[in-house]
Amino acid sequence: MVQIVIVQPSGASFELDVPEGWSLMQAAVKNGIDGIVAECGGSCVCATCHVYVQPERFAELPPPGDDELELLDEVKAERRPSSRLSCQIKSAAELDGLIVTIPERQT
Ligand code: FES
Repeated sequence: MVQIVIVQPSGASFELDVPEGWSLMQAAVKNGIDGIVAECGGSCVCATCHVYVQPERFAELPPPGDDELELLDEVKAERRPSSRLSCQIKSAAELDGLIVTIPERQT
């Protein structure tokens, strides 16, 4: 299990034990975390699973694919340098302890 911390816009934070290989979107939805809408169910076509990755660990993530980069142009909240789509971030041992923050809005 990989521990991932998800912070809501209110500041409430949740520590999730995420099986390796699961996406952070899957883990958030499975645990009933508000703020990850995930309209497309992880197919990388909706941009409603936007998160901000903790900037100091951003470079540890595998880089986004072209489809994710295109969708990041369509997120409804401010796009930041640390923006990613949580359905495209797979849980892996090296990400243990990663903190991601949910933006103010997804739609
Ligand atoms: S769940 Fe739709 S793009 Fe991530």
